[in-house]
Amino acid sequence: MSDLVKLTIDDREVEVAKGTGLVETAAAAGIEIPVFCYEPRLGPAVGACRMCLVEVEGMPKLQAGCTLTAQDGMVVHTASTSARAAEGQKGTLEFILVNHPLDCPVCDKGGECPLQDLTFRYGPGSTRMTFPKLTFDKPIPVSPLIALDRERCILCYRCTRFSSDVAEDEQLIARNRGAYSMIATFGDEPYRAPFSGNVIELCPVGALTSTQYRFEARPWEIQDVPTVCGLCPAGCNIRATTREGLVKRVQSRNHPEVDGGWLCDKGRFTFPHLRSDDRVREPLVRGTVGLEPVSWDAALDRAEELLRGAQGKIVTALSGSETTEIAYGLGVLLRRGLGAHSAVLDESTSAALDACRAPLSTIGAAELVVVVGDDEVVDRAPIVDLWLRKARRAGAEIVTIGARGSVPAPVGGAAEALRDLAAADSELGGRLRASDRAILVWSGSGGGGGARLAEAAHALGFEGKPGCAVFHLPARANARGVAEAWAAAADADEADPEPIGLLVVSGDEAAGDPSVRALAERASTVIAITMFHSLAVGWADLVLPATASLEREGTAMNLEGRVQRLRRAVTPPVPDELAWLSKLAERFGVALSPHAAVVFEELSGRIYGGLLLEQLGEHAGLPARRPYEAPEPTPLAHSPEANVPEDHFVGTLRLLRYTPLFSGHQVERVPELQFQRPEREVALSTVDADRRGIATGDLVSLRSNGTSVELRARVDARLVEGVARLADEHAAHLHADVEVVKA
Ligand code: SF4
Ligand code: SF4
Ligand code: FES
Repeated sequence: MSDLVKLTIDDREVEVAKGTGLVETAAAAGIEIPVFCYEPRLGPAVGACRMCLVEVEGMPKLQAGCTLTAQDGMVVHTASTSARAAEGQKGTLEFILVNHPLDCPVCDKGGECPLQDLTFRYGPGSTRMTFPKLTFDKPIPVSPLIALDRERCILCYRCTRFSSDVAEDEQLIARNRGAYSMIATFGDEPYRAPFSGNVIELCPVGALTSTQYRFEARPWEIQDVPTVCGLCPAGCNIRATTREGLVKRVQSRNHPEVDGGWLCDKGRFTFPHLRSDDRVREPLVRGTVGLEPVSWDAALDRAEELLRGAQGKIVTALSGSETTEIAYGLGVLLRRGLGAHSAVLDESTSAALDACRAPLSTIGAAELVVVVGDDEVVDRAPIVDLWLRKARRAGAEIVTIGARGSVPAPVGGAAEALRDLAAADSELGGRLRASDRAILVWSGSGGGGGARLAEAAHALGFEGKPGCAVFHLPARANARGVAEAWAAAADADEADPEPIGLLVVSGDEAAGDPSVRALAERASTVIAITMFHSLAVGWADLVLPATASLEREGTAMNLEGRVQRLRRAVTPPVPDELAWLSKLAERFGVALSPHAAVVFEELSGRIYGGLLLEQLGEHAGLPARRPYEAPEPTPLAHSPEANVPEDHFVGTLRLLRYTPLFSGHQVERVPELQFQRPEREVALSTVDADRRGIATGDLVSLRSNGTSVELRARVDARLVEGVARLADEHAAHLHADVEVVKA
């Protein structure tokens, strides 16, 4: 039996795969069936708006085209060839516009609004309505990020369907019935969820708008720059909308294999940090009264002096958020140009993962997914969380192994869990081995990460099965690209110098990392490359201004191993890193181009098999799997956090830190994002809370190493015993073991 069906739309014959929706079938033939509520990414059609009315021969009434699939022999007429369909659509639009205000000139959607466009194309030219339209208070704050102009809503239910069927946060609802139906949040609470901003893009009218973008620009005076989000290792594809040299909003540009057209709120709403008041805009040198601004020439003189003075005893702390080209440029200067020194990049990625790589979208089609690690996926790579939800809705079994897992495991025990899975007698491992659609995800730190994951996938026989894949979620956006670029810059590995003559701190994540600060105390001098004053004051001898990913040209490698292109959305207020790195390199007789494209070319010859920048395109492809090469063997050691102290039930608990999605130096600088930040709270297992007489909401004191911090307790039924889990921003001075008592 053929897998194709043949039908006629507007007298045109079309052949498509069986099961194709009528809207897509018509589009394939170059015919428009206009829609409002239809959005296949939200699940099955709901037929709410009737904009898609078509006439189907043999059916007495007009049909909602979005609810139909192409059938063999079907004869369809859209509004172009059917007066009935045209009349139906006109009536639908007239009905939709009964209560819709005529405020396009002041509406943020005006100029890029499906309702406006379709009314022009299919609607009545004038109105017969003379009575007053419904009005509401406006704008209604759905949250500090989203405003609702309720009278503009056409009740397509895209937003509520996203909330309930995609993000599954269940916070947006339709209240009341009939003409009084209205979109609201549950209990009128702010819409506080990791993916809330997607409803702004989904709304086909100007009912849901971004508070950051309201009244900021009109569509004819903006430019959209296609680039990639640099805030987590997923690497979602974005469009940065700019006006007069400023980023005004960030939207998805839908890479179906990477992000499926969704963004998290961190990626969408964090761009105002580019304009932060405490941004470093000129180089700073430590003088007699602290850091003082100097010219770039003076800064490079000082940098040269510090680099020569260190006599090769240099340590570089990389953030993993640099572009691959900046990391390579640093490596070329510091490793090739200045000889012995070592790097700190607190990530355990591995090129061996490429033997079982696959697009993130593979997760959505999986039947069994095992996530190991103590961190929530949404905190490390949010978009992966949406792929997992999609898989679960499609019937996949999701097993989590970790401190909050469906299979509880001791803190830091991910590597051991993987070894157990790969063992011949593991029941779950056996199912992973037998499946053609199984996925392994590592969501945590320490324990060998990527290498251990690659070994487990190899042992489970994933390589030969395209539907089976592994995903290691690093903490930093370009952890893999930076590690590979750094390795490509010079051949030899160097030992850690002692004492450290110079610490080069590259990027804000490294500058904000307490372990890098500790390293700085051991270093004679420090150069910090950072965007923000507060990250460098007090400990750097020379501060060189950094740029943000939205200001950079270059490439980054996401967690799949996909090399993607970043494009500069706006000109940074400071020279970009490669510009001054190349000048500095020249002083040491090292050749380094100031242009990212040229650096990429050199780098690509070394690590990407000569891949050209143009080949990355707007939507970069994922290279084929590489043959498996066993990673360096390392003994399977417990990470420092792996052992629960024996006396934990009477005394201390092991501190389990995590980095929440809404944290970090960019988020801190965006006032409207603050409501998304985590509560000041510590999570305790039910058993540990009971033993201490602690209930959710109690004020508790956490003490260790002579310091203490007071937080609200939350009893977390999913948490393993012996652990106090809290965001690392609240755990700054606490050590591994803490005493938890009611305050
Ligand atoms: S607010 Fe927008 S997306 Fe939500 S139902 Fe109304 S028109 Fe549709
Ligand atoms: S999931 Fe990651 S890459 Fe995607 S928008 Fe959010 S922070 Fe950016
Ligand atoms: S698009 Fe078909 S009913 Fe809304």
